Amino acid sequence: MSAPYRNLLSLDDFERAACRHLPRPIFAYVSGGAEDNFALRGNRAAFDDYGFVPRVLTDVSKRSAATSLFGHEYAQPFGIAPMGIAALSAYRGDLVLARAARAANIPMVMSGSSLIRLEEVAKENPAAWFQAYLPGEPARIAALVDRVAQAGFGTLMVTVDVAVLPSRENNVRAGFTLPLRPSLGLAWDGISHPRWLLGTALRTLLGHGMPHFENSFAERGAPILARNVERDFSKRDHLNWTHLGQIRRQWKGRLVVKGIMSVEDTRIARGSGVDGIVVSNHGGRQLEGTVSPLRVLPAIAGEAADMTVMMDSGIRRGTHVLKALALGAKFVFVGRPFNYAASIGGEAGVRHAIGILAAEVDRDMALVGINALAEMGAERLMRLRFGDDP
Ligand SMILES: Cc1cc2nc3c(=O)[nH]c(=O)nc-3n(C[C@H](O)[C@H](O)[C@H](O)COP(=O)(O)O)c2cc1C
Repeated sequence: MSAPYRNLLSLDDFERAACRHLPRPIFAYVSGGAEDNFALRGNRAAFDDYGFVPRVLTDVSKRSAATSLFGHEYAQPFGIAPMGIAALSAYRGDLVLARAARAANIPMVMSGSSLIRLEEVAKENPAAWFQAYLPGEPARIAALVDRVAQAGFGTLMVTVDVAVLPSRENNVRAGFTLPLRPSLGLAWDGISHPRWLLGTALRTLLGHGMPHFENSFAERGAPILARNVERDFSKRDHLNWTHLGQIRRQWKGRLVVKGIMSVEDTRIARGSGVDGIVVSNHGGRQLEGTVSPLRVLPAIAGEAADMTVMMDSGIRRGTHVLKALALGAKFVFVGRPFNYAASIGGEAGVRHAIGILAAEVDRDMALVGINALAEMGAERLMRLRFGDDP
């Protein structure tokens, strides 16, 4: 292991390193959840409700974590979740994530709230997916979908748990607002984190100019310092399933809906011709107190029929990946740790993080006693009651 990564042994280690590397407001934006972080903590805690019941002497020498998803054979059952303004925490963040995902043959989902043009990311990684937040008006939705198709993306993920902006007061307390408001405090946060200031902020400004929201619409959006940024994000509360139907009629590629948490919405998504759903509470960043996706996964998987069920929120370990698969997910996504990895180590950092999780999945498969992830059924888990081991 090369020297800069000696202390990065698990995905959680990246959070500690990023906390030192990033200015406080930016770290707060990435790490925080809504309100009191109750949903955020719940995501992690849910995995502890299950223990493994391993099988032994099953000859696991031929094990493989390869996973086929939407006709593509990926190397792992996990991918990189869409994360907005990744180019603020990491230099050219979206491109870094796209390159690392391509090298590891895992999917990377580019966020629609991003500061690098989606066409650039598609060029860097033609297998990347694009995540859209829907603009408020049908004509603008159609224009955006058209642009994404023109760029060559094959999978469109529409995030639907964002009727209004969440309350992330912990971000505000840490000095993070959108638009970013220049202040003495912000300046000090930058100066006291010189590697980020020079390597990400100044390098971006000098090389690429003031970052704009590039992909919220078909046309270029506001710069991150602009007063009308907030307006660009709002006016979405009237959206409903007919807008999704509009996209389904227009979009010829795979359509994934992210942010499904109920069996009823699973049924509607299936009826709307959706190819896959991501069971997700947005990493605890939207509605405070939303249950962990892991808890609703079995019921949703039971309703999904031939729709592909994916999941995210709180996955940090290979054991978490296996638990999610056992409870009905076909695939999972990981958010924050890959963002931290891009911030502190660029593409090499993200590759290191992917490698850690891949090694854990491989080791855990062997110890659980399976050769293929399809063998990871619910019978290999035990639901723990309060006071049980582990
Ligand atoms: C910094 C950050 C930005 C995010 N931006 C988006 C986004 O633009 N679109 C989206 O659908 N989800 C977004 N999410 C949610 C992630 O896609 C994902 O659901 C969540 O991070 C998973 O939880 P985890 O971070 O615990 O792995 C964001 C998450 C983070 C941490």
